[in-house]
Amino acid sequence: MLNIALFGPPGAGKGTQSKKIIEKYYLSYIATGDLLRQEIAEGSELGVEAKAIIDKGGLVSDDMIVQLIEKHISTDNDSNGILFDGFPRTVVQAYILEGLLLRMGSQLSCMLALDVPNEELIRRMLERSKTSGRADDNLEVIEYRLKEYENKTKPVAEFYRERDKYFPINGIGTVDDIFDRLTTAIDQTLDKQWMNVVLLGPPGSGKGTQGRELAKRHNLVYISTGSLLRKEISNNTEIGDRVKPFMERGEIVPDEIAIRLIEREIQLHPNAKGFIFKGFPRTIVQAYILDGLLMRLNSSVNMVIELKVPTLECFKRLASRGKTDKSRTYDRDPELIVNRLEEYENRTSLVKNYYKKQGIFQKADGTGTTHQVSEALNYMIREGFKTIR
Ligand code: AP5
Ligand code: MG
Repeated sequence: MLNIALFGPPGAGKGTQSKKIIEKYYLSYIATGDLLRQEIAEGSELGVEAKAIIDKGGLVSDDMIVQLIEKHISTDNDSNGILFDGFPRTVVQAYILEGLLLRMGSQLSCMLALDVPNEELIRRMLERSKTSGRADDNLEVIEYRLKEYENKTKPVAEFYRERDKYFPINGIGTVDDIFDRLTTAIDQTLDKQWMNVVLLGPPGSGKGTQGRELAKRHNLVYISTGSLLRKEISNNTEIGDRVKPFMERGEIVPDEIAIRLIEREIQLHPNAKGFIFKGFPRTIVQAYILDGLLMRLNSSVNMVIELKVPTLECFKRLASRGKTDKSRTYDRDPELIVNRLEEYENRTSLVKNYYKKQGIFQKADGTGTTHQVSEALNYMIREGFKTIR
């Protein structure tokens, strides 16, 4: 997800720029100030309590803000993330936001802070007061809001600076100039984001061929549990000895072994921009654990692609690989091929559902030529990079 906090003193242009940002990046929008004004207009209990504070220019309590956010945040739409305007405004709220996003398996991508001197802020808000109808747009209250900002809100910038997520943006200039500066910073953050792709598909669907190629093209690290396991076997390691019988029967290996190999492989690539996981996760347990492993790296699975190839075609491909020097032991026995195809069907449907629920599951036609399939996958990944979750 692309989650942005737009930060800055009252009148800095947060609301103005927000409208443009959410349109360009397809984000949901949470503006605590707007939500509070809405509560006030509705005359809700929360609104009544907030009104007195807002009219004076103070900050409402963190407790009220949590209730408000809980009420309005929604995850069941297909936006690419959330833009927060005027939140977090205290260090406590910054912690709250962390927890909130963590619960959604996500985190804040960046905080963009609009920098505007006080004289200009006052000038803008007094100008706005002619039409805004906002009770807090008068000189006395504006001055108090600026003071509250200085004392309580500014320390939030430090919170994000320490986490390398703070980007100061010059907030003087035309609306379009400032928007350009903001989008440059957002695009830089997107470039820095990881891209983790899970490539699913029945045995023989071409995951290996495509996965390696995709990894090369997009500068990602290719991780195939199958290859890792075969390496363990050929090196006669302890893991190799344990997994050999499973592999020979065409069964999947115990979760804890697959997981250990993946963990080790992730650690071997500390500078990776992301991974292509081929043939993993194969069980729902592995899917949960992969999430945990990636979360430790402040990352997550961004995209899951299943290569669709009819079962009969997979069977033919595996049987003919069995006649080449790339043959695996289980390619030569039709019964084992059937076992593996069945095992895929049985186990992977849960994994697919797990990712479907997160809205990151896609299918790709795996029946064309290698080149055609590769082009289709490339396109999906390029699009994915644009709207990384
Ligand atoms: P909120 O509604 O968030 O107000 P604010 O932070 O004071 O900010 P504004 O909405 O006044 O300014 P803005 O930065 O959005 O600027 P805008 O785009 O409108 O909060 C209101 C109150 O609610 C708070 O005081 C507090 O009491 C409470 N509250 C809200 N969230 C809270 C939280 N998390 N915790 C606790 N309390 C909370 O632009 C301003 C004007 O300038 C406009 O007229 C615009 O047209 C103009 N303008 C914009 N850009 C430019 C430009 N480049 N050049 C010239 N003019 C420009
Ligand atoms: Mg605003």
